[in-house]
Amino acid sequence: MRKRRSVLKLLTNRRSIRVFKPGKMPDEIAEMILEAGVRAPTYLQSYKIIQVKDKEVKERIADLCEGQDELIKNAAAVFLICADLHRTRRMLDLLGHRHVLKSDKHPVESMSAIIDSAFLIENMIIAAEALGYGSTVLDYPLVKPREFANLFQLPKGVTPLLLLCIGERGEVPPLRPRLPLEAVLSTDRYEDVSDEILEDYLRRLEDSMNRENYVKKYTGLDMKFLEYLRLRTVLDDASKKIYDAVEKYLKENLMKF
Ligand SMILES: Cc1cc2nc3c(=O)[nH]c(=O)nc-3n(C[C@H](O)[C@H](O)[C@H](O)COP(=O)(O)O)c2cc1C
Repeated sequence: MRKRRSVLKLLTNRRSIRVFKPGKMPDEIAEMILEAGVRAPTYLQSYKIIQVKDKEVKERIADLCEGQDELIKNAAAVFLICADLHRTRRMLDLLGHRHVLKSDKHPVESMSAIIDSAFLIENMIIAAEALGYGSTVLDYPLVKPREFANLFQLPKGVTPLLLLCIGERGEVPPLRPRLPLEAVLSTDRYEDVSDEILEDYLRRLEDSMNRENYVKKYTGLDMKFLEYLRLRTVLDDASKKIYDAVEKYLKENLMKF
């Protein structure tokens, strides 16, 4: 029972850490985190983990992640997690049948590659926590897939998703707000939530993130959190251009929905 409680405590206390004390992760620790990662539930293990060890490669990633380059430089371990339908296709080819990845339609395998990767990442995050490390995930690869694909020489069929950065905690940020359970959970059928619940959450988010000085601290921008959220999600010519490029990359790399 005590063990069960300690795992729960670890889960409910987790928060993203973006300030690391510089240092390197011993190989045996990285191995424990990776072994825990691959035990996650999976369909076809359609992922690839690329551990960044070379200083120059790390610097080039830091260049691609403007605003969060310090975080990457100080992280004890950096992993690029990719959805890998290239290897899955090769594996199915070996079975010698007419399989779905040969077709233009394989939404289930495409979605599963992302789900497989997400479960892997979360297991790695929790393992890192259990070993006393903090972590954060960065989504620059989602918006710059071609740059990451070039840097890491990804073959066709591999889509870079997230960077998982793990390191020794150099900050103790507060727990960040979540929607109330009643907004994300319903019973027996889909029940929508009221605007009041959503507005209350947005208010809590604004208060909490501003109290933490989140935007200024992590991005250097001088604005309130909800203003930042609007900026990150605005539909304009710039976001349309990025999304067109991402969509094109996905289609060219076996991610067919
Ligand atoms: C798909 C995804 C992309 C994310 N991208 C970034 C990122 O680029 N930079 C960053 O600092 N945090 C990133 N995060 C971390 C979230 O900002 C963080 O989990 C969220 O603010 C909640 O805070 P918490 O993890 O401390 O509870 C990302 C998280 C997810 C799931």
